[in-house]
Parts: sequence; structure tokens; C-alpha cells
Amino acid sequence: MTAIEVKPGIYWIGVNDRTTDLFEGLWPITREGVSYNAYVVLGEKKALVDMAKDFKVDEILDQISQLVDPSELDYIVVNHMEPDHTGAVRMIHRIAPRATILGTKKALEMMDAYYHITEGVREVTDGETLDLGGHTLKFVSTPFVHWPETMVTYAVEQRVLFSCDAFGGYGALQGAIFDDQCARLDFYEQEALRYYVNIVALFPKPVLKAIRKLAAVPIDVVAPSHGLIWRANPQRIVELYQRWAEYAGGPGDLGVTLLYGTMYGLTEKMGEAVATGVARAGVPVEIFDVRHTHVSYILPYLYTRRGVLVGAPTYEGNLFPPMAEALRAALHKRIFNRKAAYFGSYGWSGGARRGFKSLAEQLRWEISDGLEFKGGPTPELLRKGEEFGYRFAKSLEEG
Ligand code: FEO
Repeated sequence: MTAIEVKPGIYWIGVNDRTTDLFEGLWPITREGVSYNAYVVLGEKKALVDMAKDFKVDEILDQISQLVDPSELDYIVVNHMEPDHTGAVRMIHRIAPRATILGTKKALEMMDAYYHITEGVREVTDGETLDLGGHTLKFVSTPFVHWPETMVTYAVEQRVLFSCDAFGGYGALQGAIFDDQCARLDFYEQEALRYYVNIVALFPKPVLKAIRKLAAVPIDVVAPSHGLIWRANPQRIVELYQRWAEYAGGPGDLGVTLLYGTMYGLTEKMGEAVATGVARAGVPVEIFDVRHTHVSYILPYLYTRRGVLVGAPTYEGNLFPPMAEALRAALHKRIFNRKAAYFGSYGWSGGARRGFKSLAEQLRWEISDGLEFKGGPTPELLRKGEEFGYRFAKSLEEG
């Protein structure tokens, strides 16, 4: 790829990753890819800001080489220690032995733990500035956006915020790196939400605290380490992150996430009837088959919508395991305070509803009456299912 000027003296030298299937070993990005955005700031002193995964080191070095001999770097700024941004650090530091690695105290502890690098490092403190000669970098501590050591770096004269994970998203860059060049903003915003819920959602208070801390900083460009660079409308992604952080613990928007799993199509048939009722009530519904849909794609809907309908058969006296797994993922992400109801088929003694109730209680979800049925649904039962969906959707309008 080509190094691209972001502002005078500031360049994007990032790389795309279309090889990794699972981000963090967990979250699918096979179709979407991801970018590791890194930057070079060329003052009298030369600074590299963030890097990439280890297997991308050649590409990153090629990118840097278009602007400066990597051996002549003076600083390597480490905003965040997760190896998607630091995997290349050992090799780069070997090639640039004069460069001082800058990070928070915790980052330097992690630099030792992860890469056993203890020489040529220097702690920076919250609010500290670094004069590069022509550019000033200011370091702002933003713990737990995403790990405890995290900071952001602000290029003072050019008003560029290198925000690392904050304001980032999945999605490899497709030629365009800036928001104003991109014809698919909706894709990147959807993937930023999926990234937010998968990666950052456990830390809403730190996200809001960081946004408050940065509110007085004039920002022309938000330059995260994943996804698009926001220069036409830098506030757009900040406002989206703020809105998403504010969902935590809140009631969610009017809408239903309908999850179903099915063994022989009987619960699925009921799910169709239930969805018809929800749609008839005029409430948006998004349907997911938990057998085939990774929770990565389901979580953004659970996170933002008020209602959850859970359709699953009884399996060995309990909730159908793929459904239990999906609900446990919601529990892990602390997606609390939803309104929910269960429906599903059983063969003889049931048990799915009990399993659902147990998980829903841990999720602090308000449960309304469910619809459990033996075997396959009759036409009469399907009519009841439609009414059940309609009533549930209408109950969401009450807030
Ligand atoms: Fe992109 Fe938390 O690393």
C-alpha cells in the first residue's frame, strides 16, 4: 500500500489484514477484514505511532520506508499494548535501536511481560507533551479503552487525534482511508458498532470518561487504529461511540431481537408466526438462527434493542445448547435490562423454559409469559404465537 498524507507531516502507514479469521481469536472477520492503522509524524524528530500484528511487520516497514529510513526513527509511541498493534514491535525496535518506546507506566510493564523489552523505553504521563520540532505530541491517558494501559496521542498543531482502539471498527480499508472518500459509510458504521459491542462494550464508563476528557480538545481528524479515518466529520464517530456507551444499562431502542434455534423445524415454524405478530405491531424485528450465526453479529442487536424473543426447543431437559451459548455471551457482555419472552417446543417433560428463566434472571431481564408447546404447533397454536408476538411487541412501546 502507499503511505498517505493525513495532514502536513503526518502520514497513515497502516496495513489491511484479510488473513485473520478471528479477531482476538474470537470474533469473525473473515468477510470484513480489519485494518491496523499506524502513523508516522515527521518533525525534526521522527515518531511512529502504533504498529500492527507481528506477521504484518514487513508491510509496516515497507510503509515506513516510503517516508523515512526506519532505522532513523526517534520514537515509537505505543498507545495500547494489545498485540494487534504491538506484534511488530520487537522487529521494528531491532531495526530502529535508537528509537525510544513511549507508553504509560502500565504499558511499559506489559512491554516487558509480552516482549521482554526493558531497554530504550520511557514512561509518559497523562498530559505530557513531546516536542518533535515542528510537531508537538500530547499524551492523554484513557485507561480501559480498551486495556488498563491505554492512552491516546494528540498532534497539537495539526489537531489530529491518534485514538487507537477508541473510535475504531472492523472492516479492512477498501481503497479509501478517509470518511469523505468512502462510499460505504453505513458498512463502516455497522462494523464499528459490532467492534464496539464485541471489544469495548464492557467498559462504557471509561469510554464516556475519555470522551468527556477530550471534549475540550479541538480535533480536525480522528485517526483510530482500526477502520476509517474521520476528517470530514470527526465528531460523527465520537458521537456514535458516546451513544453506544450510553446504551449500557439503559432500556434500548424500540425493537426486537428474535433468536431461535431448532432441531426439526418446529420451533422455527412458531418463530415465523411470532415474527409476523411483531411486524404487525409495527415494531422492527431482526431474526437470527443461533445455530448458524456467530454471537459477534447478534450482540449488537441485543445491545441496542429493548426486546428479546427467545425461541428454542428443550434439549435433554434444558435449553437448546446453541441458545444457551448465545445468552451466556450476552451475560458476559453485561447486556442487562431487556424485556424478554420464551417460546419453543418440547417432546415430553420440557425444561427449556426453566433454563431460559435461569439465564434471563442472571441477565436481569424482565420476563413475560412464554409459549411452550408439545411437539409441533397446530394452526390454532400458530395463531396464538402470532398474538404472542404482537402483544410482546406492543408491551415494548410502554418503555
Ligand atoms: Fe486493537 Fe485492543 O486492540
